[in-house]
Amino acid sequence: PQTVKLAVIPGDGIGPEVTAEALKVLEVAAPAGVKFAQTRYDLGAERYLSTGEVLPDSVLAEIRDHDVILLGAVGGKPNDPNLPPGILERGLLLRLRFELDHYVNLRPSKLFPGVPSPLANPGEVDFVVVREGTEGPYTGNGGTLRVGTPAEVATEVSVNTAHGVERVVRDAFARAQRRPRRKLTLVHKTNVLVNAGSLWWRLFEAVAAEHPDVTTDYCHIDAAMIYLSTDPSRFDVIVTDNLFGDIITDLAAANTGGIGLAASGNVNPDRTTPSMFEPVHGSAPDIAGELLADPTAAILSTALLLDHLGHHQAAARIEDAVLADLTERTADTKRSTPEVGDAIAARIAG
Ligand code: NAD
Ligand code: IPM
Ligand code: MN
Repeated sequence: PQTVKLAVIPGDGIGPEVTAEALKVLEVAAPAGVKFAQTRYDLGAERYLSTGEVLPDSVLAEIRDHDVILLGAVGGKPNDPNLPPGILERGLLLRLRFELDHYVNLRPSKLFPGVPSPLANPGEVDFVVVREGTEGPYTGNGGTLRVGTPAEVATEVSVNTAHGVERVVRDAFARAQRRPRRKLTLVHKTNVLVNAGSLWWRLFEAVAAEHPDVTTDYCHIDAAMIYLSTDPSRFDVIVTDNLFGDIITDLAAANTGGIGLAASGNVNPDRTTPSMFEPVHGSAPDIAGELLADPTAAILSTALLLDHLGHHQAAARIEDAVLADLTERTADTKRSTPEVGDAIAARIAG
């Protein structure tokens, strides 16, 4: 029997609610002989507010010693006076992504049959966003001058390194190569962000030359938003920077049945650290505590987790069960968070 060391970070708001359902499903979907040994970490707003700790180094070291991580969501109410802005987002979530070198933030977007889309003509939507996960405007480079005065200046510098861009572009080409359509679109803003844009474009072109079997395309980020809403079937794999990828994937989620369905993986393809799987959504303070959250995104994140571990059949069992569950959902059959988890788990258990 194989034991997988799983670090679980339920986090804040609806994080613990959806994580409980994801674990329920993971338990029943795990392949015979595979056991998940869980360690739970009570990181998040509560711990910060009672102890001042966000992610102690000793805890990070322990987490690093796991095979894989499942995270719910972190963060409080936007602009809560008790929580300094970004303290959990930067100090916990981004610190994990950066320290564990999760340079591929994988965010599939698929419109499942029967799932309503706000788009009039969605067509076949099935693409994956390969979002750079360790650089861009997220690195905390920048600062402020003369805060609170009329002469205040604030900068957030986007950091793009040849190493960082090339490795994520290579990963995106490799993923495109494994998909039937073999198409990769770079999304950036090379017409304005000329420094970073030039680096991305040159490396994209250079790696493209090594992959003649992959069709390539380029869109500026603003036009990409048009196509995402008018003609999303043109996308197969999208590679983009950290901030553009963040924004693209919330729109993509909204277009494919809502943020409650969108799963993600923060992957280190070199496998030198544990990769981390989490729903795209946040802690949703507006609905937390009411068991109204859709756990499907967290559940589908466990399918990505199983895929990452090489358990492709188990991952497919989860996707099939979710798909079956989705086809039976209607606007007037509202279920609680655990009811959705139970229904999906029951389908897998058979
Ligand atoms: P959010 O994703 O938490 O919520 C946006 C909207 O989507 C809300 O109306 C919410 O009710 C709804 N929603 C989200 N998940 C849902 C689900 N599973 N089922 C049904 N509805 C769902 O984004 P926000 O409101 O901008 O941010 C809230 C907090 O979460 C902030 O502190 C933010 O920093 C944090 N955040 C964390 C993550 C993460 O942990 N990965 C991601 C995004 C935001
Ligand atoms: C996400 C979130 C995070 C991001 C925040 C909370 C740091 O929005 O996972 O999409 O911007 O990456
Ligand atoms: Mn986001």
